[in-house]
Amino acid sequence: LLQPVILSGGSGTRLWPLSRDKHPKQLLALFNNETMLQATALRVQNFQGAATVSSRVIVVCNEEYRFITAEQLREVGCTDSTLLLEPFGRNTAPAVTLAALAASQNDNDSILLIMPADHQIGDEEGFYQAIAAGLPQASAGAMVTFGIVPDRPETGYGYILLGKQLDQSIALELKSFVEKPHVELAQEYVKNGQHVWNSGIFMMRASVWLRAIAHFNPAMFEACQTSFKLAKSDCDFVRIDKEAFAACPSDSIDYAVMEKLASAPELGISACVVPFNAAWSDVGAWDAVWQVSNKDENGNSLRGDVLVEDSRNCLLMSDSRLLACLGLEDVIVVETPDAVLVTNKANTSNIKRIITRLKDSH
Ligand code: GDD
Ligand code: MG
Repeated sequence: LLQPVILSGGSGTRLWPLSRDKHPKQLLALFNNETMLQATALRVQNFQGAATVSSRVIVVCNEEYRFITAEQLREVGCTDSTLLLEPFGRNTAPAVTLAALAASQNDNDSILLIMPADHQIGDEEGFYQAIAAGLPQASAGAMVTFGIVPDRPETGYGYILLGKQLDQSIALELKSFVEKPHVELAQEYVKNGQHVWNSGIFMMRASVWLRAIAHFNPAMFEACQTSFKLAKSDCDFVRIDKEAFAACPSDSIDYAVMEKLASAPELGISACVVPFNAAWSDVGAWDAVWQVSNKDENGNSLRGDVLVEDSRNCLLMSDSRLLACLGLEDVIVVETPDAVLVTNKANTSNIKRIITRLKDSH
């Protein structure tokens, strides 16, 4: 059984002013009428392959977002869901551990398909092919990652060193994993052609994940186990016990497990990479939104009530009033009722500077 798990814990501050603390990126409909959370939930349900996809989806999110998350899932017909509600974020490794514990309750060896809620996948066929290729590996006990050929030295990603191709598979051996390298290292990795980016999607047996986390971070494993045992269920909501979860160390899948696997042969868990060609984007900042959205013949992507003349390669979004633009190139304008962002495409990753100033002054 393939058990979909959606990690929905981020805030995506770089998409300010649309994403806010109350409206994180995955809950926004940036590209069409579906939010990224909804698209993620629907995408996996359409997979047809060697494994049956569980009709129940496990979503791990903050308890603050329980109603909007449940509502968005219902809207797209995902009526069978378990929402694991974290009282606070402890990063992705505990989130996966909780999901593995929840999955093990129903089926003691299901295969988890871990998916971030805030990614855009342009080519669903490519996604299904990658999942199909990863299944036999995950089923045999491997940690499966999905790798993307890098086109720039992005320092916010994990880099995977490719090994030899596995027998009768398109998957390759994962030789080593480096999360968020500094820029010189990232440049070297892109140049040498031996590395791929980690997409942030993972597949492994629940039991394999639990064994790995118990080995690398026993305190995390125990805190998750206790807080899950003490969790209170009401309908689809499973409230993770706050006090027990407070004892849980914070760490990501990547640092807590993926980086360490290669140097822990005693554990006997292998890792592999499936090439991932699915027009993937993690929609990190506004330039990426422009990149993946539909554009007119002038390269402009327009949303809402927008009037445009003589402009090229712009992203122009209006939420509450008419937005008129003239003679712009490579510009991003995002209008909301209480804030308007105007920036150049090249600057969008620096938006953190604005967020920091806002936080200081409000
Ligand atoms: N439930 C829950 N709780 N979800 C979380 C938490 C948490 O505490 N923290 C993060 N998430 C969710 C985010 O919403 C996102 O969907 C996903 O987990 C990944 O977390 P990010 O914080 O976005 O990770 P990242 O982008 O820095 O790095 C990861 O993704 C990259 C690709 O986008 C890593 O896996 C990198 O190696 C990878 O390259
Ligand atoms: Mg991310």
